[in-house]
Parts: sequence; C-alpha cells; structure tokens
Amino acid sequence: MSNIQSYITNHKDRFLNELIELLKIPSISADSAYKDDVLKTADLIKDSLVKAGCEHVEICQTDGYPIVYGEKIIDPNLPTVLVYGHYDVQPPDPLNLWNSPPFEPVIKNTKLHPEGAIFARGACDDKGQMYMHVKAMEFMTNEGELPCNVKFMIEGEEEVGSVNLAHYVKANREKLKNDVILISDTGMIAKDVPSITTGLRGLSYVEVKVTGSNRDLHSGLYGGAVANPINVLTKMIASLHDENNHITIPGFYDKVENLSDAERAEMAKAPFSLEDYKKALDIDALHGEEGYTTNERNSIRPTLDVNGIWGGYTGEGAKTVIASKAYAKISMRLVPNQDWEEITDLFKSHFEGIAPKGVTVKVTPHHGGQGYVTPIDSIGYKAASKAYEQTFGKTPIPQRSGGSIPIVALFEQELKSKTILMGFGLDSDAIHSPNEHFGIWNYLKGIETIPYFYKHFTQMKK
Ligand code: BES
Ligand code: MN
Ligand code: MN
Repeated sequence: MSNIQSYITNHKDRFLNELIELLKIPSISADSAYKDDVLKTADLIKDSLVKAGCEHVEICQTDGYPIVYGEKIIDPNLPTVLVYGHYDVQPPDPLNLWNSPPFEPVIKNTKLHPEGAIFARGACDDKGQMYMHVKAMEFMTNEGELPCNVKFMIEGEEEVGSVNLAHYVKANREKLKNDVILISDTGMIAKDVPSITTGLRGLSYVEVKVTGSNRDLHSGLYGGAVANPINVLTKMIASLHDENNHITIPGFYDKVENLSDAERAEMAKAPFSLEDYKKALDIDALHGEEGYTTNERNSIRPTLDVNGIWGGYTGEGAKTVIASKAYAKISMRLVPNQDWEEITDLFKSHFEGIAPKGVTVKVTPHHGGQGYVTPIDSIGYKAASKAYEQTFGKTPIPQRSGGSIPIVALFEQELKSKTILMGFGLDSDAIHSPNEHFGIWNYLKGIETIPYFYKHFTQMKK
C-alpha cells in the first residue's frame, strides 16, 4: 500500500464527514436569500485551507461573494501549482424531485456507485471535487510529500458567471503567478475509463423579450387581429434552427474550427454506447446537428438552446388571454475561436432583425465566456496522465467536454499558463439536476491521484 493509500484508509471517515458538513450549507450564489450561507461557506473553506497547511489564508472581498485564497510557498525556485475551484452551488429546484433534501447529505448505494455516493447539491459540482484538493494538500503537508509551491483560489460565483473573479485575476497577476492551473470541476468517461478534459465550450447567455399590445387582451375579442407575443416568440425561436438542425444566425459558424478527419477518428475511439446513453435518459431517439455524432454534437460543435420560456397564463384551469409580453432565456454553447461577445452581437442583431411588424423585440445579454482547448503534449497534461496511470492502471483518454468554465480561458489570457482539468465526476452524477451525487470511490480516487500530479509535474518541470 502506498503512503497516500494508507493515509486515505486512516482518515476516510473524517474526509467524508468534513465534506458532509460543507454540503449542509446552502451556498446558492444565484439567490440572494442565501447570502449568509454563501459567506459562511467561504469561512469554512478558509478554515479548511489553514488546517490543510496553507499559509497567508485570506478571504478576499469582491463586489460579490469573496474569493478564498491560501498558499504554501516552500521554495521560490520550485514550480507553482494554482488550484481553482468553486464553493457556490446551483439552486436545487425543483425540490419535489429530490429523494432526500438537497442540503441534508445522505450516503446511498447506486448501480454505478456500489461503494456509496453522497447525495446533496454541490456533492460533485464542485464542493466534493474541490475538497479533494484540500485533502490532498493536507496529506502532502502532513506527510512531507509536498514537492512544490501551491496556491489555492476558491471562488463563490462560478455558477453565476465569475464576473468578480475576472476582475480579481486581472488585478492580481503577480500574486497568482503559477506554472500550471489545476481544476477538478469536470467529469471522466467511467470509473474504469479515466479521462482528462482537454476542452470546454464557451457560452453566450441572453434573455429575449417580445412585447405586443400595451396590455393583456381578451383572446376572443382581439384574437386574430393583433400579434400574439407568445406565438411570435415561439416562431422566431423555431426559425433559429433549419431542418438539419444547423443554427441559422448569419455568421454564427464563420470562426468554428473544423476538426480534421483524423482528429474526428481519434475522438470516435473513446468508448461510448449509444444504446446506454439513450437508456440512461429514457429516450428512444437522439436529436442534433446533421453530419455529426452524438459525442461531436455535445463537445466540438456549437449549439443553441432555450433554457426557459414564459408568458401569459400558466395557472390552474384556463384563462382566455393574449399576453402583452413573452420571454425566453437562451444559451449558446460555443467552441474555441468563436468569440462570445461577437456571437452575442450576431444573435442580438439577427433576433431583433427578424421581429415581425406588430411587436417589439429586445435582447439583453447576461454573461458568457470563451471556450478552451489545451494541448496533450504540455508538461501539465503529461504529468496528469502519469498520475492517472499510477492510480487507475490505465492511460487516461483526452476528451473535450460540452460544459463551460468560462474563467479558464481568462486564466490563460491573464496568467499565461495552461489549465489541466482533472475531473472525477460521472455524467450520471446529476450535476445541476435533482439528486446530484458524488461517488465515495471517485472522491477518494481523486484524493489519491492529485498528489501524483504534483510529484510528476515537479519532476518533469526541473
Ligand atoms: N462544473 C461545471 C462545468 C462542467 C461540468 C464542465 C461538467 C464540464 C463537465 C460548472 O460549474 C458549470 O456548471 N458551468 C456552467 C457555466 C457557468 C457560466 C454558469 C455551465 O456549463 O452551464
Ligand atoms: Mn462547477
Ligand atoms: Mn455548475
């Protein structure tokens, strides 16, 4: 048994209990009613970094929720790893679909997690994955196994766009200087198929509003004679995809990078079962852009989705009414080279431009970020790959993810270093959904693998 394995065996119960305490606090950044809880979580992270051996641990105030920073500089001549994670979580709604309350963590066995999984909002995204780094740090400092310098930067606004973190990074380039950035906030293919995330999609998130008459109208007296904003909005949204599910916004695909046939063939080698994919979601057919496989559609291709749509009467029973206004929230997942602000502008002018007479259409941008791809020949990638080989007994597969962590592209731009995404979650862990969970096996495997990254990175960097 390796030193880290015996350390985990000896401290496993405490590692779980500490995470459970962290998961009990509803740190929902999107909902101001939880402000005190978000702040309390930052304090808890601060204490945990101190206990793990970090120095100069501080709560850095921003215009929003604070950033928790801590470091351990053992020798300025050694490399520095910057760990990033987030302590905020998504709202747990809809609550009635949870089998147990989202902020009362419970351990249950599942088919994929026979060793047990912790069910709670944030279990995987990102409290559980972030805390693996805190525990790996604790091991390295307690056991004299820390081979290089470490900086921790844990934020509380990832789920709402990291706007204040972006300011913080720009203002603290020297303080945050590093040789590699390490993040666990993504997933892996399967427990027996380790993978390293090499790409993230960008994001443009907008809200649209269609206004018709100056008041809600009787749908009998006025129906047929005036534009119905909900009818108009749905028709406009439907027109954003053609019959092949290509997005129709002019210029949308102009900068999309087309992968070579060789790269696509390489991607297609990753183990994947369409039947299992459909079965897990209980759907009989998949849907997407013509000419691309499912794994391409959800990673290397840009998309446009309505996330919410509302207007008119949605209460009990029927009300005959033509609403004055209709709304939708729309997200576009982008691929590297597509600039999110440019895409937001293209969307705005196109969508406002296709408004028919009789309504006014307004597009309000929310937030966004650029996509990211990282090469597989960097020292960071190679060190991560070796670390997985040691703890999984297999070489990890590079895989581009469909999700977004918009701050990663900004890290590279401002701090000039590569990010390595060592995710230990599974797609089935239900992040952002009811019954989010994180496998105990995955949690402990993460803690076991991380110290090897430090070791190999330091050796290879010398
Ligand atoms: N951790 C996720 C992103 C993620 C999950 C990437 C799994 C790859 C695999 C992150 O917390 C997240 O939810 N990001 C948001 C974007 C953000 C701006 C709200 C997303 O992807 O929707
Ligand atoms: Mn996350
Ligand atoms: Mn998330």
